[in-house]
Amino acid sequence: MKILFAASEIYPLIKTGGLADVAGALPVALRKKGHDVKLIMPAYQGILEKVAPIQKRINLGNPFGVGDLLLLESHIPANDTPIWLLQCQALYEREDGPYVDKRGVDFADNHIRFAALSWAAATLAANGSLIDWQADILHLNDWQTGFAAAYLESWKTEHIPVVTTVHNLRYNGSFDMDQFPATHLSPELLSMHGMEFYGRFSGLKAGLVYADAVTTVSPTYAQEILTPEYGDGLDGTLRAMQDKLSGILNGVDYDQWSPEKDTLIPHRYNQNSLDQKRLNKLALLKENNLSEDVEQPLFGVISRLTEQKGLDLILEAMPAMLEKGARLIVLGSGDKNLESGYLELQKNYPDQVSVRIGYFEDYSHRIQAGIDALLIPSRFEPCGLTQLYALKYGTLPVVRKTGGLADTVFEEGNRQNGFVFKEASVHSLQEAMERCIACFYDQQSWQERQKNAMSYDYSWEAVTDQWIDLYQTLLSK
Ligand code: ADP
Ligand code: GLC
Repeated sequence: MKILFAASEIYPLIKTGGLADVAGALPVALRKKGHDVKLIMPAYQGILEKVAPIQKRINLGNPFGVGDLLLLESHIPANDTPIWLLQCQALYEREDGPYVDKRGVDFADNHIRFAALSWAAATLAANGSLIDWQADILHLNDWQTGFAAAYLESWKTEHIPVVTTVHNLRYNGSFDMDQFPATHLSPELLSMHGMEFYGRFSGLKAGLVYADAVTTVSPTYAQEILTPEYGDGLDGTLRAMQDKLSGILNGVDYDQWSPEKDTLIPHRYNQNSLDQKRLNKLALLKENNLSEDVEQPLFGVISRLTEQKGLDLILEAMPAMLEKGARLIVLGSGDKNLESGYLELQKNYPDQVSVRIGYFEDYSHRIQAGIDALLIPSRFEPCGLTQLYALKYGTLPVVRKTGGLADTVFEEGNRQNGFVFKEASVHSLQEAMERCIACFYDQQSWQERQKNAMSYDYSWEAVTDQWIDLYQTLLSK
């Protein structure tokens, strides 16, 4: 099959969260199974230096009146995956991140930036002769590419099947109606059953409504989003389309994330050499000038600092745990209040808490290898990848039972690999951390859980067939 895979971030070219990991790995896994996948993403500033030399340039004209849209054909060097980069200086060449400026404020023209990306994806999907490659399936991801489904709908051409994957329903890509004309979409689409969303228009809703199949990144989240609590205003829309909705769990790229192969950590290890993990812990404690007692538990956080991730709960829960001798390493960035809250905690417990604000891919590997337990008290979690990475590193996750966390971390039964609590409260988190600490002091049962955790297979290879089945079902309709 030929699959055109559209995303706003793709590892290793650009990454702000799990979407990039998925967009960087699922296409590779599909290619390994013999399918022909091409990616499309904006040529953000600095991207062209990270890809192979450009092989072809196609001018798509100036449909948005902001300058010509150029499609540049290249490959991702690490895995040779073909990629089309959409170049437009006015839209994408900025020093900041892909979505927000330095102050963390959304770019004012995001509706045009991602309408243009979506338009380009739809154009290639509708008219393969432009690139001598006709896709069989168009696979969209999140709101930034959701408009593509709307373009295909409004062009009323015979179109290929569209799959939209929801990585996070919270970001619905909705904009004021007075910005709609700039997308050049037909106003016919602005009904309640179309892409209208509480008096605004939404890229995500377009992706949901006009797709042939909608997936989310875990089975539990696929159920949760049908309820008002998790539906973010889209639960009604989703309930009405349940027959085309399913959940397929994300996988892990174990070439990147495995303690046996990881060249970014000081000491490599596997289930049979857990003493090496202790050396990673010691190195991590040293690196952060924390007290070097390896016999005491070391917790970690690697996360976007947002309400979603429940990090306010950790801030409150932590002092009591620190008084008991635990330590904490935090890597994250986002919400300014949370950033200063964690820096304050570090100031109050300089020997026990280390906080690094920012985005550091290499450091995140050293943390996964060095900590004992990873805290993920998310209020909602479509899938979550950090707990999957943690499991492979014999780092036990402490998670709230929601979304993909509920599908992958178990405290009871015969697959015990972490610690799980239900209620999003400081008290429930503390209880789970206490169970975790008690288990840590009983090294025999701790190591049993570690070995359980490390023996799981959450590879992409294990789930790729579910994607292939879905695509094939759509093609046979
Ligand atoms: P989300 O996509 O909601 O942020 P995931 O758990 O799916 O959550 O994916 C997060 C990804 O981003 C993981 O690869 C994680 O290691 C990485 N990550 C998050 N914050 C940071 C950070 N500050 N520095 C480095 N990597 C980070
Ligand atoms: C989103 C979700 C996260 C998921 C990731 C990749 O950012 O918040 O739970 O793992 O997408 O699908």
